[in-house]
Amino acid sequence: MNKMLPGSGLEGLSLTNVVRKAQGGLFNNAGQVLNHAMYFAQFSSTPHPMSDKLAAMLAETFGSVEAFKKEFEQKGATLFGSGWVWLSADKNGKLVITQQRNAENPLTDGLSPLLTFDVWEHAYYLDYQNRRADYLAALWQYVDWAEVENRM
Ligand SMILES: [Fe+2]
Repeated sequence: MNKMLPGSGLEGLSLTNVVRKAQGGLFNNAGQVLNHAMYFAQFSSTPHPMSDKLAAMLAETFGSVEAFKKEFEQKGATLFGSGWVWLSADKNGKLVITQQRNAENPLTDGLSPLLTFDVWEHAYYLDYQNRRADYLAALWQYVDWAEVENRM
């Protein structure tokens, strides 16, 4: 990304604005920097629990926190090829789960991204081989909900 930025016209913009405006190779590289930064920042070995407020929001939208997790895992498991599954808030604060291909990020669709699981094969193959669903189910124990809620 740093090599592609000079001469692109997007120098000096924040990473999120580069992702919003870039095309082609620069978009792919900037998107993967942003997506991985968000992915790793949301995990902790001593994670904060989910607040009652977010739990209530998830229950209102998806039926329950467990139903949200199942839908999120299912959308991650069924994304064909490489990409990311996301929880985002729309402009009205409504929570949505989206599948994004390759380096895509929901912010290019006007959403505010909150949580993401990487479903590129490199994220799980060494430990889980083709068992992507098992990898997705195992990630919840590391999610630091304070970080996720800071993004709201
Ligand atoms: Fe990745």
